[in-house]
Amino acid sequence: MSALPTFNDPDALARDLPGAALLGADPAPVQLEDAAALLAEHYGLHGDLSPLTGERDANFLLKTANGQHCMLKISHPLETPLVADFQTQALLHLARHAPALPVQRLVPTLSGQPSLTVHLPHTIAPRVMRVFSYLEGLPMPQAPRSEAQRLNVARSLAALDSAMAGLQHPAGDEDLPWDIQQAHRARGLLQTVADPARRALALSALADFESETLPRLQALPRQPIHNDFNLYNLLVDPAEPERMAGILDLGDMVLAPRINDLAVAASYQLSEAGDALPALCSFVAAYHSVAPLSSAELTVLPALVRARLAMVVAISGWRAARQPHNADYLLRNNAISWARLSSVAGWTDTAVVAALHQACGLSPQREETPPVLPTTTDTTALLARRAHLLGPAYRLFYEEPLHLVRGEGVWLHDAQGKRYLDAYNNVASVGHSHPHVVEAIARQASTLNTHTRYLHAGIVDYAERLLAHMPTALGHAMFTCSGSEANDLALRIARAHTGAQGLIITRYAYHGVTAALAEASPSLGALMRLGNTVRTVPAPQAAGHDTVEVGRHFAQGVRAAIAEMAAAGIRPAALLVDTVFSSDGVYTHPAGFLQEAVQAVRDAGGLFIADEVQPGFGRTGEAFWGFERHRLVPDIVTLGKPMGNGHPVAGIAVQPEVLAAFAATCRYFNTFGGNPVSMAAASAVLDVIEREGLQANALAAGSHLRERLSALRQRHPQVGEVRGAGLFIGVALVQPDAAGPPPATLATRVVNALRQHGVLLSATGPAADTLKIRPPLVFQREHADLLVDTLDRVLSNPALHHPA
Ligand SMILES: Cc1ncc(COP(=O)(O)O)c(C=O)c1O
Repeated sequence: MSALPTFNDPDALARDLPGAALLGADPAPVQLEDAAALLAEHYGLHGDLSPLTGERDANFLLKTANGQHCMLKISHPLETPLVADFQTQALLHLARHAPALPVQRLVPTLSGQPSLTVHLPHTIAPRVMRVFSYLEGLPMPQAPRSEAQRLNVARSLAALDSAMAGLQHPAGDEDLPWDIQQAHRARGLLQTVADPARRALALSALADFESETLPRLQALPRQPIHNDFNLYNLLVDPAEPERMAGILDLGDMVLAPRINDLAVAASYQLSEAGDALPALCSFVAAYHSVAPLSSAELTVLPALVRARLAMVVAISGWRAARQPHNADYLLRNNAISWARLSSVAGWTDTAVVAALHQACGLSPQREETPPVLPTTTDTTALLARRAHLLGPAYRLFYEEPLHLVRGEGVWLHDAQGKRYLDAYNNVASVGHSHPHVVEAIARQASTLNTHTRYLHAGIVDYAERLLAHMPTALGHAMFTCSGSEANDLALRIARAHTGAQGLIITRYAYHGVTAALAEASPSLGALMRLGNTVRTVPAPQAAGHDTVEVGRHFAQGVRAAIAEMAAAGIRPAALLVDTVFSSDGVYTHPAGFLQEAVQAVRDAGGLFIADEVQPGFGRTGEAFWGFERHRLVPDIVTLGKPMGNGHPVAGIAVQPEVLAAFAATCRYFNTFGGNPVSMAAASAVLDVIEREGLQANALAAGSHLRERLSALRQRHPQVGEVRGAGLFIGVALVQPDAAGPPPATLATRVVNALRQHGVLLSATGPAADTLKIRPPLVFQREHADLLVDTLDRVLSNPALHHPA
């Protein structure tokens, strides 16, 4: 570590601390008459204007002639418009998703904008101007305090955090002031603390934070947080002072572990009287009653409280050193902060953590497990090692490959701590790291894992549950480790039953990696040769929207393939289709169009194999399986991807008379397929789909998402047909005029730009010109809104539309 800078150069003390320029900035006042003129011009508002105090921004109170009050805020020139927009978007998000929370509302400009950028005389940088509704209420420090009030503070924070969890904004990735994640970098500021005992106290809190707590934060749920729930930012009802009447000031928002917000709030709730622990416990338990905390979050809380308090004394001491004339004001809360810090410094963390668990009714047993951390955060080095060790056949998504280290629900997190909305991964269908599935896998793995040549109830119980979701004709289930193996097995069974070899697939199909299936997966690329007995048919596209017409068109292709096979002396064993035609570009409608083609192949002696690896397990919302939407009963159904939420489990359901010939000539054993751990995972996935109503959610969230995507067409002519069912959606991009890029180029740019904006999806179809959206089934309306708003923003960027 470099030597600490000396105290006679206060600015140098802060050189390690991100956001220090803003923390140390002098206020940038705005003349009253300039503010009044801006209000009149952009808001049509007039009245009595008076300045309000503010740490950085220029704030004013406006009383209009008709008695209306509102607040004008003009951001500090050092705060970038992007960061101000983070706060603006948070307020808009809260108004939409948590209208009952007492936060300020934005008053729109005369042209309907939530904010505007202004250039003021004598300032070079643009400043962001916003007008807020005025919240009536008594600032909490002026109100009588009570336990009921304290608990309401915790509950309000929990409600606020829950509402903010769905907010995504690029400014979250900026280095912002007051972020506890940077607490250790405030170390230099403590040079301004004259008392060596105090300095040592704060330094030790920061050192412990850096070595013990910081590495653990990476594994905790992150989201935008308020980050300054101090008493001056809270208003209460003067008539009922235990009731919260206002939550002010989103000016210190950051993207951080959610628990940091609670640590900040708790640090202001500790009494100085030495009974800090009971106060902390009741405060945390009240938060937990609204927004349940995990054991891992509780474990880091004491250290976070200490780090925050150390940050407070470091920053206030440093500010006072920079502005000695203002020291009294800047240090007004210093004594209480030091008192709190020395009180919490005396805690024994194991005892505090145990007390917190008890207060929340949580068992600490799982928290002893060390968090799974990335083995490296050096993404560039990892890329090079990967290429060296895995060789050239592997491919990565994105121009800037993504190094993911953690997921929960619909969110994925990269090694740098950035969070992404996952709108792509249908494998983690009940949500990343779903605790019920994780627990089921862990429990079974710690009990027994063998294979299917021993009797075990797990496989039989699961087969029973799975087949209960199938048409009764499908009476047997068999298990594999991948969708490819499932299709391979289905093909062998179909060939054994029919005595024929021919296989009909769609023109841009993907069915797997085995030798037999790679030859039946033209989407692997033009260099991949089709098998001698494989024939392709055009996907059911461009044939209108009438079921009979689309069905006839598709069936004609199947009949032509059968005729072509006959000419080569081949009989069809099966028609194998992905029932949402995902790699062909997503073709789901009109439901029922598959019937005629299936009849055609059966008339020629072949079977119908429904590949449900993509659409199965409730994704289409309308039905549990894609084939059900077409009112068909397949001879064989193949399953995979979402079946174990990421655990490698797959399989088939088959009609008993279809299986008979295969079984008569061949035994079936798959070392890992159907093992007790896999069956526990698959069974837990069914539990979650059923308990959490995920099929119904796919229907509701999916139709909202399709509606909003379709509406984008009015703003962006490059958005073409929006296809799909439930949460399997394809958005075709088009080239409305010759000035823009071809659709495939645009799709690549959109996919990469969305990744930079924290939303993950991909492109599909023969030309890769269709956006492919198939998020975990726990995707909600608010996630759909975030996806569409981000897509809207990305498509509005002219840089995306230059010709190729
Ligand atoms: C429709 C379809 N079938 C089969 C497979 C093969 O599944 P797996 O990768 O598990 O072998 C895939 C994989 O993407 C698929 O999309």
